Amino acid sequence: MPHVITQSCCSDASCTFACPVNCIHPTPDEPGFATAEMLYVDPTTCVDCGACVTACPVDAIGPAHRLPEEHKVYIELNRSLAAADPANSSLGGPNPQERSRPPMAHTVPPKVLPIPSGTVISVGVIGSGPAAMYAADELLRYPGVTVDVYEKLSTPYGLARFGVAPDHTRTRKVSGLFDKVAADPNFTIHLNTEVGTDVSLEELRKRHDAIVVAVGASTDKKLGITGEDLPNVRSATDFVAWYNGHPEHKGDAVDLTHDRIVVIGNGNVALDAARILTAEPEELEGTTISPAALAALRESKVEEVVIVARRGPEHAAFTLPEALGLADERTVIVHPDPDVAETLVASSDSELVSHKLELLESLETQSDAPRRIRLRFLTTPESIEATDDGLVLHAKHSVTGEAIDLPVGMVFTSVGYRGVPVPGLPFDDRRAVLPNEAGRVLGDDGAPLPGVYVTGWIKRGPNGFIGTNKTDSQETVEKFAEDVVAGVIKGRPSGKRKRPLGRFLGA
Ligand SMILES: Cc1cc2nc3c(=O)[nH]c(=O)nc-3n(C[C@H](O)[C@H](O)[C@H](O)COP(=O)(O)OP(=O)(O)OC[C@H]3O[C@@H](n4cnc5c(N)ncnc54)[C@H](O)[C@@H]3O)c2cc1C
Ligand SMILES: NC(=O)c1ccc[n+]([C@@H]2O[C@H](COP(=O)([O-])OP(=O)(O)OC[C@H]3O[C@@H](n4cnc5c(N)ncnc54)[C@H](OP(=O)(O)O)[C@@H]3O)[C@@H](O)[C@H]2O)c1
Repeated sequence: MPHVITQSCCSDASCTFACPVNCIHPTPDEPGFATAEMLYVDPTTCVDCGACVTACPVDAIGPAHRLPEEHKVYIELNRSLAAADPANSSLGGPNPQERSRPPMAHTVPPKVLPIPSGTVISVGVIGSGPAAMYAADELLRYPGVTVDVYEKLSTPYGLARFGVAPDHTRTRKVSGLFDKVAADPNFTIHLNTEVGTDVSLEELRKRHDAIVVAVGASTDKKLGITGEDLPNVRSATDFVAWYNGHPEHKGDAVDLTHDRIVVIGNGNVALDAARILTAEPEELEGTTISPAALAALRESKVEEVVIVARRGPEHAAFTLPEALGLADERTVIVHPDPDVAETLVASSDSELVSHKLELLESLETQSDAPRRIRLRFLTTPESIEATDDGLVLHAKHSVTGEAIDLPVGMVFTSVGYRGVPVPGLPFDDRRAVLPNEAGRVLGDDGAPLPGVYVTGWIKRGPNGFIGTNKTDSQETVEKFAEDVVAGVIKGRPSGKRKRPLGRFLGA
């Protein structure tokens, strides 16, 4: 029986490097990688060796015959993704051995940079989320490079700690991988150190030979509709930070006294929020959920969470693995709508979208379960109004234009995160990223700022899984290495390294 990739796949792609027979796709250098919702094992070429299991940082892979019951659906899903891949040999594509292999970065000796003995290149990394930790991992492959990470919080790893839902226990295991990076003798972390407040970028540029900015996207996008600032209209960004015990959200209170809550947007964050809002508190006991959030959920009166999306099911922003997990764990219903029903029976060119539509079609349109999640499509929010009983979301049907009024107790907007400017660096306000070319930060004149790099959400925008930041950071560190070779970045005598402000080992 072959191995199978399951729900917690984070697209880190370590499995593709580890696989001796190249049966896991898409690899980072194959066309579908950037948009893949999950990787798959081709069952026709898998030799069942288990090398991928050891490489995966989030326990997403297992042998088919040992999968827990709720993951058995992934046996067929891996098979069908492989069968639908035009590059697959069974469909006339190349032989698996001839398909492009990922660069063997993990199995060859570290590449060597021209750093004379007795000198080091000191790199300062701002932020300690996945992008920062993958960048540190790549940088530390070069002998002679040292890494100092600056993190504003007292706990490292960014959204891997304060974003990933507490019930996603497998995904949270990725911090074990980051702990290993942090244990490198050439790695130092400075916690409680906010760049721009506790130390300036200018000071860091003096202290280090190169800087990698990896500050993520710390705020939320706005809907821009009337009523967005009403008291019981909150962002999912705040809600997530609250239930995960983010230090900046410890004093927050979330009103769970109403029976119906609306979440606007249907990305994976919206699904996380709905799943937590409808969880039985016992499910969350023993997880990393904040005690205050768990206490509030115990008293919660919430019966229905309505996830409102402006587009149809074929454009749902949530990923198939997350939707499968949700449907398995919760009562999920699809709000009845003739335009939506039409889409659900239509076919799609994309194997993943077809599976999503099949899943949605299999769901009920009615339920009186005590706690349920309602997926509502083709509903464009127009304004939110406060009433004596709570709130009304005024919306319109995206196809017919018909007015829709939804009385609710609370609204969470979950329409994406947004990066904020880094003092001292240019900012692309439209995309809310640092202007860059493959990770080299560009100055106001459009030319690269020597020795300043960027990675993660503040480089490409707020999208992608934890592991997406690995390939992103590899690209950035490649540019750093090219600049060292070109003499743009010079080292310093190793004795001159600044004394670390503090050292952190393990989470
Ligand atoms: C709610 C949520 C749940 C998610 N769940 C999953 C999941 O289950 N699986 C998955 O694969 N992906 C998940 N993702 C996606 C994943 O978390 C992101 O791809 C990833 O965290 C982005 O990494 P980053 O390093 O760019 O940003 P972040 O993770 O945000 O890290 C940025 C870090 O920089 C620090 N920082 C910011 N400003 C400063 C400053 N001035 N000085 C010092 N430090 C600073 C921050 O405190 C933070 O630690 C989730 C995302 C969200 C929003
Ligand atoms: N378990 C996991 O793997 C996991 C968990 C959480 C997050 N993540 C990842 O983190 C990233 C961010 O997730 P996210 O959910 O914040 O963002 P997202 O996937 O980009 O979803 C944003 C949602 O907001 C909607 N939206 C945006 N602007 C809107 C507007 N003006 N009016 C109405 N709706 C609007 C979008 O609809 P349109 O599509 O119509 O624009 C979409 O439904 C994603 O890549 C996600 O996969 C992964």
